[in-house]
Amino acid sequence: MWKEHYRIGSELIDTQHRELFKRVSNFIRVVQAQGGLWEDRLEEVQSTLQFMQSYVIIHFNDEENLQKRSATPGLEKHARIHADFREEINRFARRMEDEGFDEESMQELAARVMTWLIMHVGREDQKK
Ligand SMILES: [Fe+2]
Repeated sequence: MWKEHYRIGSELIDTQHRELFKRVSNFIRVVQAQGGLWEDRLEEVQSTLQFMQSYVIIHFNDEENLQKRSATPGLEKHARIHADFREEINRFARRMEDEGFDEESMQELAARVMTWLIMHVGREDQKK
């Protein structure tokens, strides 16, 4: 899913973006795996969700710091977009913990995260 034109020119951020695309692709593969029992895949789904929650915090912080250092215009708006997304994922994870991790909701989340990533990395992160 990663494309070379997503590069922003920072080795750190580009590496993190590539990692995010790899993880989200894998997440989609796991939640959509046909044939296997959902209960058997659940552990991997949960650990991937946890990884993404923690990795996204590190990545957003690094990206926001880079934008501050290079005085990127619109960095406050960008930080707000990050915060909204982080909150959305956290809200979802909390709901899953309360109501149980059902297959359909996790597939929706995986699709939502991938769409967000493509739009965000492809557009917002390209603004200089
Ligand atoms: Fe960003």
